[in-house]
Amino acid sequence: MPVVQPLFQRVAIIGLGLIGGSLAAALRENKLAEEVVGFDTRADELALGVELGVIDSAAESAAQAVSGADLVVLAVPVKATQSVLREIQPALNGDAIITDVGSTKSGFVNDVRAVLGHLPATVIPGHPIAGSEKSGIRAANSQLFAKHKVILTPADDACPQALGKVTAMWRACDANVLTMAAEHHDEVLAATSHLPHLIAFSLVDTLAGDDQNMDIFRYAAGGFRDFTRIAASDPVMWRDIFLSNRDAVLHTIDRFTQDLDQLRSAIADQDGDTLLRVFTRARAAREHFSKMLSGQAYVTNNTEHQVTFRAQPAGPIVGDIRVPGDKSMSHRSIMLGALAEGITEVNGFLEGEDSLATVQAFRDMGVTIEGPSNGFVRIHGVGMNGLQAPRGPIYLGNSGTGMRLFSGLLAAQAFDSELVGDASLTKRPMSRVADPLRAMGAVIDTAEGGRPPLKIRGSQLLTGIHYDMPVASAQVKSCLLLAGLYADGVTSVTEPAPTRDHTERMLEGFGYHVYRNDGTSSVSGGGKLVACNIDVPADISSAAFFLVAGSIAPGSDLTLRHVGMNPTRVGVINILRLMGASIDVSNERAIGGEPVADVRVRYAPLKGIDIPEREVPLAIDEFPVLFIAATFAEGRTTLRGAEELRVKESDRIQAMADGLAAVGVKTTVIPDGIIIDGGQSMTGGIVNSHGDHRIAMSFAVASLRAQGEIVINDCANVATSFPGFVELAQQVGMNIQSQGDV
Ligand code: S3P
Repeated sequence: MPVVQPLFQRVAIIGLGLIGGSLAAALRENKLAEEVVGFDTRADELALGVELGVIDSAAESAAQAVSGADLVVLAVPVKATQSVLREIQPALNGDAIITDVGSTKSGFVNDVRAVLGHLPATVIPGHPIAGSEKSGIRAANSQLFAKHKVILTPADDACPQALGKVTAMWRACDANVLTMAAEHHDEVLAATSHLPHLIAFSLVDTLAGDDQNMDIFRYAAGGFRDFTRIAASDPVMWRDIFLSNRDAVLHTIDRFTQDLDQLRSAIADQDGDTLLRVFTRARAAREHFSKMLSGQAYVTNNTEHQVTFRAQPAGPIVGDIRVPGDKSMSHRSIMLGALAEGITEVNGFLEGEDSLATVQAFRDMGVTIEGPSNGFVRIHGVGMNGLQAPRGPIYLGNSGTGMRLFSGLLAAQAFDSELVGDASLTKRPMSRVADPLRAMGAVIDTAEGGRPPLKIRGSQLLTGIHYDMPVASAQVKSCLLLAGLYADGVTSVTEPAPTRDHTERMLEGFGYHVYRNDGTSSVSGGGKLVACNIDVPADISSAAFFLVAGSIAPGSDLTLRHVGMNPTRVGVINILRLMGASIDVSNERAIGGEPVADVRVRYAPLKGIDIPEREVPLAIDEFPVLFIAATFAEGRTTLRGAEELRVKESDRIQAMADGLAAVGVKTTVIPDGIIIDGGQSMTGGIVNSHGDHRIAMSFAVASLRAQGEIVINDCANVATSFPGFVELAQQVGMNIQSQGDV
């Protein structure tokens, strides 16, 4: 056994309450210190600490405890910090690390400055967010911090070794360590912990003072009990916390009372709309928090939450399924529904993270949106000019479509806005929308290189332009048409090749005429949208994974229901048919201005082809999985004219080539495409999806015909477009397991 040096020689813990005692116990249990010395003004607790084996020895004074200590932990009530510091100052080792466990951090820093005259670089303030109803050293529990957060608030010039050691100590207690600035910590805690405690104390007190109090408490239902549970906390501690976090708490109280007043007025005025708007927004936000806490929200750049797929060879693919709703149409249904007059009901809405981000964005701008629940959403439209300024930046997660379409819509609003996204979105080019919008009179700032965040200045008068798009992009076209709804005169966009036309079709559905002529779409500004009902078909881009799966796995026979068959989206079917796939389309019908059909795929041997360039924009999102089809085809497949693939959620040409190489398949990458010689055998291996949902799902499909297991890393973003992918894939015969939740 290697001899592991403990992190510290002598740790002094001043204050043996629940937190101090538990930390002492954890330090001893994990052998993090040669010696743990405790001190507490309550002699009985101190003696008990030794007796229970929580500390190695008891000091006679705080000064004696810290003398010779290389780590000093102040676990005293925040009010006592200054006096304890004064007492221990003469005995402190010059290079001792000092940390604390108090609930407010700026106060601690100020206390250190007040007593020591400056903030030594070895002071690392800390706040373990853990507790229990019990108190005192008897309740000390070495596991108290396991899986809990500990926030450290080191100054900018804090000593890196000291920070490293305190971090290592908490990690060894199995805590999840975060660092932030002290002021930020105090604001966050004021809002998330201090204000709720204040309200709980206040509410119980108000009701207890009521004449009817016995009755109120006797009949108090679960809601009251749940809500006021935290009013049972320690009053002295909370008094001290409020006194020490005065400014941040006052700020959140002011915001809260303002919002409470707004609700009061809404009730007084019988304004049900405002109530519903606030309640639906709050409910969604709460769901969002709980998802975030379980690591599932559209904050998937969260590195703590890694999802890995393990996919084994399998097949055939058999069944009768419906994949989730179309992502492009889901975004647009919310956008147009929000700006319409009246109530829009949507069925088949994609409850994926990208389209949920769009829902949340409109809620942040004051739109009441009920749902989604089983694909049903009810949007209470506010009219073209009814959006309200959001309180902060609008977070669009991974969604390029969201950001580009919002930029057009927000460029024309009366308020400023800022659009932000996750790590992948933050790398994607936005000048393609910012430049033409500026030509219309919009004022937009981008970060370096035309990347997000986008800062959009409100109250600009936009003027219609004609724009010849240099790239075939439905997102750019849609962005300009949305801005054009507000512009003076006509806005027209000419595309170099046909791109998806859901915006044009849906605008017509909402009663807004779009002139369309030979590759040009135009709108006249100043009209209005009238609410309508929308049935979102299944997303052909999601169906594509199963079309390829069914084509490559011998014996397959799979029917996909209610698939959107818009001619600007069916490139994947055209290309697969050219390769020899067996795909039958039946039950063709038009629903709400969009063609829909059932699609049956059966296994058929594929052959390589030169993919016609006209198909590229019509299959733009399906190329990753088409590369998998090409790998299992006989002969060479060549794709050209697809440089746009390099600026999607990842560089999809390179990411696919790298992934294929990792499973033993050689390809030739060219600037605007790829050459794949089919018939190579695919081994198992480890593939990095680069956080790109379509790369992840493509390799899951590839595993059907691989010779071993494919492990696909970084798959959390599958939830952006295809929630439930793994379950559905398993249902039809694929052999995939997900580690972590999607
Ligand atoms: C989309 C358009 C496409 C596509 C994206 C969705 C849309 O992007 O890749 O997934 O909803 O308008 P481009 O139009 O920029 O190619």
